[in-house]
Amino acid sequence: MMWRMETGYERDPAAFGQRTVMIAPSVLSANFGDMASGIRLIEQSKADWVHLDVMDGHFVPNLTFGPKMVKDLRPLTRLPFDAHLMVEQPEKMIGWFVDAGADHITFHFEATVHVHRLLQQIHSLKCKAGISIVPSTPASALTEVLSSVDLILVMTVNPGFGGQELIPECVSKVKQLHEMREQGAHDFLIVVDGGVNRQTAGLLKRAGADVLVTGSAFFAADNASDEVQHLRNG
Ligand code: DX5
Ligand code: ZN
Repeated sequence: MMWRMETGYERDPAAFGQRTVMIAPSVLSANFGDMASGIRLIEQSKADWVHLDVMDGHFVPNLTFGPKMVKDLRPLTRLPFDAHLMVEQPEKMIGWFVDAGADHITFHFEATVHVHRLLQQIHSLKCKAGISIVPSTPASALTEVLSSVDLILVMTVNPGFGGQELIPECVSKVKQLHEMREQGAHDFLIVVDGGVNRQTAGLLKRAGADVLVTGSAFFAADNASDEVQHLRNG
């Protein structure tokens, strides 16, 4: 399986006897005045991916950073760069973030009519392609693209800000996607983003999450490595 070869990650629980999840700290909660330290902390914590939240002030009511930030951070780590584009007209920006060094590009289902075309565009640039859904979008909206995506990012808060509480209704979508994947023998990873902490990690893992994004819980932790361990084993 492609994901296993590239990341060492095996999503089949039977293979390791126990389900494991990958942890993707989000730099959204790092100090933007010293982003390099944020990346170093993620690296030292033995987390799996660096999650990069790109916000344009239109698709979501907040602004973060663009490709220059991603490019400048790229030499600091070999961890995969997982770009989450919360932007309108993502087709205009995909190339920028691929050039800047992103390994995975995830855009929003709600941001374009041409979901399939964009997935193809990302694949043609030799990147992993992800699609994300906001809390009000049902998992069933993705039925027709399940065989074309490498990852599905389920937002468990309304996108735009870190530090929000997980919306419990979103957890059933993780379960549904897990079942849809098994039924169709698909190979995408299920990423959960928003309100992940020690209280919610176990629930999300049992629902079928493969990757947990963590912003505020990771950067507020006294010990980042401990936090990663707790979230992974939660
Ligand atoms: C929210 C972002 C998330 C955010 C998660 O729009 O997509 O990645 O950083 O932050 P926490 O973990 O604080 O909910
Ligand atoms: Zn995100």
